Amino acid sequence: MKFGLERIAVEVPRHSLDLALLAEARGVDVKKYHQGIGQEFMAVPSPDEDVVTLGAAAAERALEGVDRNRIRTVIFATESGVDQSKAAAIYVHKLLGLPRNCRTVEMKQACCSGTSALHFALASVALEPESKILVICADIARYGLGTAGEPTQGAGAVAMVVSSQPKIATINPKVGYFTDDVMDFWRPNYREEALVDGKYSIKVYMHALEQACKAYHIETGEGFDSFQHFCYHLPFTRMGLKAHLHLAKVVESSLTGSELHAQVQPSLQLNPKTGNAYTASLYMGLLSLLEQQEDLAGRKVGMFSYGSGCMGAFFSLEILAGYKEALPQESSQEILAKREALDMATYETWYETRMPQDGSAFDTPHISDRPFRFAGVADHKRRYERLDGRLEHSSSSASEHFVAAPLPDS
Ligand code: CAA
Repeated sequence: MKFGLERIAVEVPRHSLDLALLAEARGVDVKKYHQGIGQEFMAVPSPDEDVVTLGAAAAERALEGVDRNRIRTVIFATESGVDQSKAAAIYVHKLLGLPRNCRTVEMKQACCSGTSALHFALASVALEPESKILVICADIARYGLGTAGEPTQGAGAVAMVVSSQPKIATINPKVGYFTDDVMDFWRPNYREEALVDGKYSIKVYMHALEQACKAYHIETGEGFDSFQHFCYHLPFTRMGLKAHLHLAKVVESSLTGSELHAQVQPSLQLNPKTGNAYTASLYMGLLSLLEQQEDLAGRKVGMFSYGSGCMGAFFSLEILAGYKEALPQESSQEILAKREALDMATYETWYETRMPQDGSAFDTPHISDRPFRFAGVADHKRRYERLDGRLEHSSSSASEHFVAAPLPDS
């Protein structure tokens, strides 16, 4: 039996900031952003967007044509969660009307918990092959205004359906892991912005890549030459290319520079327009690769996931014949093309917007045009809205296997 990706879909905030505006405001040569780090735009969430609304919208797209009653688990991977206790997966579960007989959980390890979620999902599906698992990776990357990390901010979500009926790719369950306790990037509970030792973080990333690849080789016997394409975690777009060239050097690859570029370039088409989306970045890279015109059926892809702190994971997938029919109708580039441009003043105002810390009631301004929005807080409780008029929990009573009644109101 095969296990892997049945569906994959992306969501980004409605607004983006042109990094030419940021460069001008910060007195930086724009070529540093465009060429040096490879970023053109940064996705900027409005005050009524968060990881729940982004994740729910990506999941709604990923679930097109999927029998929702088969979703047994929702795993939400994020490092910008909205609650210290309650899983963001529960909010999404309600917004999407998923069956009540469902497991919901949130996972964290910086940018690589989405990859662990994917492998936990594979293991679950192997135990219960009739089930489907919804994996959501969603994040909002925040550094400080005026810091070196600022141009690498971004946001976005990718949702994936993992099942025993993969239509996009099979995933090899073997993974090469690397973990070490380092402080390259972290966010203490009392901070909204990450702390980062930027140059050190790049060194640690490269070391984790080497070690995870070595571990993968020991696990599987497969190496650099086993793959036609590579996708990397993308804290900024140039990092993908840097990482690939570094790995090629370490393994003494005989490929030419242009052959190496061709292996990684197709996965780098979305990130320049979104910026870092932490857990979602690697999978936006995968979607970018899958949306290339060329038919990639039968190709093997090496995937490197990195989470600061740190953990690295190298694994692989094989693209299936007919995968293009399983991709969402609206392409990622079409979704990006519909975004609205922000000016610097609004970007900085939104950046500084903080919700009350004492739980007092507030309503967010209605800015997002997406199907789901964060409406505000009352009595310390977050409120979400579904705007397209579809009913929440509409499918639970239709389940052929499990029927759970809702709880009474408190
Ligand atoms: N024209 C063209 N290129 C220029 C230029 C110009 N005028 N000015 C500078 N550059 C180039 C530099 O040569 C450099 O390229 P190389 O690395 O290839 O030499 C590049 O632009 C960046 O310049 P600097 O190194 O001087 O930039 P910086 O000091 O502002 O820091 C950064 C860059 C470390 C990426 C910083 O943006 C940062 O800290 N980002 C957040 C942390 C991060 O992304 N870390 C990555 C690994 S950690 C991880 O992966 C987890 C995660 O998601 C965060």
